[in-house]
Amino acid sequence: MKRFLLSGLLMALSLQGTAQQQPANRPTLVAGIPVNYQEDSVGSYVLPDLLKCADGQPVTNARTWTQKRRPELLKLIEEIQFGKMPPRPTEMSFRVFDQGTPAFQGKAIRKQVTVYFTRDTSDYKMNLVIYLPKAIKQPAPLLMNISFSAYNQIIDDPGLLVGSIWNREGKKVRSDKPSNFGKMNVDQFLEAGIGFVTVYYGDIEPDFKEGIRYGIRGKYIKSGQTEPAPTEWGAISAWAWGLSRAMDYFETDKQIDSKRIALQGASRLGKAVLWAGIHDTRFKLVIASISGEGGAALSRRNFGETIKHITDSTRYQYQFATNYHTYGDKVTSLPIDGHTLVALMAPRPLLLQTGSTDYWSDPRGEFLSAVAAAPVYKLFGESGPQPTDTPSANDTSLLLNHLGYFMHEGGHTVLPTDWPHLIAYMKKYL
Ligand code: GCU
Repeated sequence: MKRFLLSGLLMALSLQGTAQQQPANRPTLVAGIPVNYQEDSVGSYVLPDLLKCADGQPVTNARTWTQKRRPELLKLIEEIQFGKMPPRPTEMSFRVFDQGTPAFQGKAIRKQVTVYFTRDTSDYKMNLVIYLPKAIKQPAPLLMNISFSAYNQIIDDPGLLVGSIWNREGKKVRSDKPSNFGKMNVDQFLEAGIGFVTVYYGDIEPDFKEGIRYGIRGKYIKSGQTEPAPTEWGAISAWAWGLSRAMDYFETDKQIDSKRIALQGASRLGKAVLWAGIHDTRFKLVIASISGEGGAALSRRNFGETIKHITDSTRYQYQFATNYHTYGDKVTSLPIDGHTLVALMAPRPLLLQTGSTDYWSDPRGEFLSAVAAAPVYKLFGESGPQPTDTPSANDTSLLLNHLGYFMHEGGHTVLPTDWPHLIAYMKKYL
């Protein structure tokens, strides 16, 4: 089963070619549950009212949102969907084992850092590689990417540590082979005056059901518990937690402007960066790529993946709080939806990147989510998509909003041609 899940993901994300080469992401039966792709079978739905507090008070200004409504919704997302995460560990430490080596023909200064989550340095740690643009003399803004691969697999730089990754059989192996996920072109960020950092998600928590035995969540299991309580963290919260620990490091590094960190991740990691950005307001900006169900897409809209699909015991249950599993058959009673996640980023910049043939992830559902969240951005005087907008593939008219939306022509991936758009967004808002 594990092999099956991961190979599906590889198929979807590894094709980093042109839009024309991208297959449509449109499975029709998943975990024995049919999938709807007909707009006229979506059904009608009413989204939870973002602008009304639990006690009925209307939210008419930014202050009421920030002080009252936002904390209410944040708690719901935390306890129902992703699960609560522990605070920063007191015993955490950092080892900068590469303190600043020229890289990319002198265009960058490279650092490599191990973040130890516990006092015992033999386990529970993640490696970061950081490239700072040489041309920048003051502390640099950064794009923090969370990746399906170890960094030496996706960056062409001979000085990189060969780390370890989880293979398809759930075993830890050396990351000494190229990954199927394609390469990251670091130059494009450096040229834009933005530093780049990436982390392998499996360093924080492995991406399979039994991963809790090996990942950081297992470390926090209390005696007598076999799994986290229904309101406690699933794997997505663990990945988000790891991103906050990277931020803890950035705050100590004088060459980094920790007030200008953007987060980016795709797919399940698109969900993770969205949640990390919401939960940890130290992050300035988020780019959530193809985050789909459980991310920015609307769960009440029956199109593509549903909560029932994603929380099926043969699929991605372990990524969410156990509470979330109970909503597969009662989505209408969920007090939150994808628009809640989008709104909780306000007023900080958020860009949703989708793909026109990624039907499974429902790119239109992400757009409608942003439309529903735009009134929250408006409380702060910031813009987002309007109900009268109609996004089309490769249209950039909704990109450079505070709450931005961009849909490439193609499937479930981040295309090389997307990056210039994502960089334009960061140049404007970071
Ligand atoms: C599956 C899953 C999606 C997820 C995706 C991914 O397709 O159903 O919800 O986003 O994997 O992470 O690639």
